[in-house]
Amino acid sequence: MARKKRMIKNLLIEKIVSGGFGMARQNGKIVFVENALPGDELHAIVRKKRKDYVQAYPSEWIKSSPHRGVAFCEHFEHCGGCRWQHVGYEQQLLYKEAIVRESFERVGKTDIPEFRTIIGAQNNRQYRNKMEYTFSDRRWLNKADFIGGQPASEMRGLGFHVPRAYDKVLQIKNCHLQADTANRIRNAIYDFAIEHDYSFYNLRKKDGYLRNLILRNNRQGAWMVILSFAYDDQASRNALLTFIADKFPEVLSLQWLINPKHNDAIYELPVQVFKGSDYIEEKLGEYVFIIGAKSFFQTNPQQAEILYQLAKEYAHLKKQDHLYDLYSGTGSIGIFMSKACRKVVGIESIAEAVENAQKNATNNQVKNTSFYCGDMKDIFDEAWIKNHGRPDVVISDPPRAGMHPKVVQRLNESGAKRIIYISCNPVTQARDIRMMEPYYKLKSLQAIDMFPHTYHVETVALLEKI
Ligand SMILES: C[S@@+](CC[C@H](N)C(=O)[O-])C[C@H]1O[C@@H](n2cnc3c(N)ncnc32)[C@H](O)[C@@H]1O
Repeated sequence: MARKKRMIKNLLIEKIVSGGFGMARQNGKIVFVENALPGDELHAIVRKKRKDYVQAYPSEWIKSSPHRGVAFCEHFEHCGGCRWQHVGYEQQLLYKEAIVRESFERVGKTDIPEFRTIIGAQNNRQYRNKMEYTFSDRRWLNKADFIGGQPASEMRGLGFHVPRAYDKVLQIKNCHLQADTANRIRNAIYDFAIEHDYSFYNLRKKDGYLRNLILRNNRQGAWMVILSFAYDDQASRNALLTFIADKFPEVLSLQWLINPKHNDAIYELPVQVFKGSDYIEEKLGEYVFIIGAKSFFQTNPQQAEILYQLAKEYAHLKKQDHLYDLYSGTGSIGIFMSKACRKVVGIESIAEAVENAQKNATNNQVKNTSFYCGDMKDIFDEAWIKNHGRPDVVISDPPRAGMHPKVVQRLNESGAKRIIYISCNPVTQARDIRMMEPYYKLKSLQAIDMFPHTYHVETVALLEKI
């Protein structure tokens, strides 16, 4: 029997909070409403009830926020990608600053001594260098897909997962987040697959041939295409890959893999090169970095240069300084800073990224860096610090989950005079900085927008030893 939906009436959204939720209060209870903006008045349906709060989604609008405008993308209504596209860009930046401030007040329980004005993105379209698409034999149907009350007959789709309908994908015709060549490549692959009657993966039944498409590019116009297939069918694979190779000379790296697993992750699977090289390159500052099929690389390179420059300013390195680059990925931050200090040591958990970091250093004739592979919480212990020498300055750039408490404790005892904490999640950043309080004082915080039209925000914090 379907569960009865509980409605909360007459909510007024007061502010925007982390995760992009609009926050309202009712009868002393906090309500987080999806896709709601400050100034919205609405009725909402409860999705989750917790001791301290309720999470809900809008069911009826009474009055719209004055910040609500018109989105420019045809897919906006159903796509989860750019939830704030209908908000003016200047207002998006104010929201992001508000999210950072709120996270530090609520979770960090701290004032920010110097909160610099957020740096907006230079380009707020076509700013990404990587997009991932999914093939599905159960396309999400929009109103336009029903003809005379009947759904369209073609149910295969290539695009993005629809929020809360994990087995369906929204067919994407035009995405504004990556250079337009991405649209041409993706749409051509889809048309070829339909014309030659390839089967698309079914996420529930776990069958079908075509699974995922990853497109990566650099600012010089080189492209990498990675196709993942559910099983081996050499003739079909070669036909599709030959079609891509012939039609798109800008694809300098064409790769494929077979993924028989139930999830889409490719990290542990071997990737084969069909044409060209197994990497493309991107330049950040004066350094050139290789980007492999599986490597983490900053997805907005233009803003990444600004981010690294800011981290360098905060780091205030001296020639004799020893720098730690923690969560170093392909070594880009450490290499970017390498000329300003005596030596850099990095730690990263993905072996391929560490190999790339070493290659990046060699290719750029950087001789004072070394990178080590391991999980930070295991490798970064007193013996490791003793072995490599104490740091003068640390740059830490963890994933969204933030740092493990053991890592925070090690940093507290590291003796570094400055720690630069880069984060894409101000909630975990504020939590970790709170744990550092007896040892390090937050001096300055700068937010940077790396992801226009989303609620994500990057922050760089400068901490000084007490
Ligand atoms: C936000 S990225 C930063 C990468 C790099 N600093 C850059 O600017 O490109 C976080 C990195 O941390 C790595 N990572 C995640 N968990 C880790 C862990 N427990 N130990 C070490 N590295 C980890 C990821 O593989 C990823 O490369």
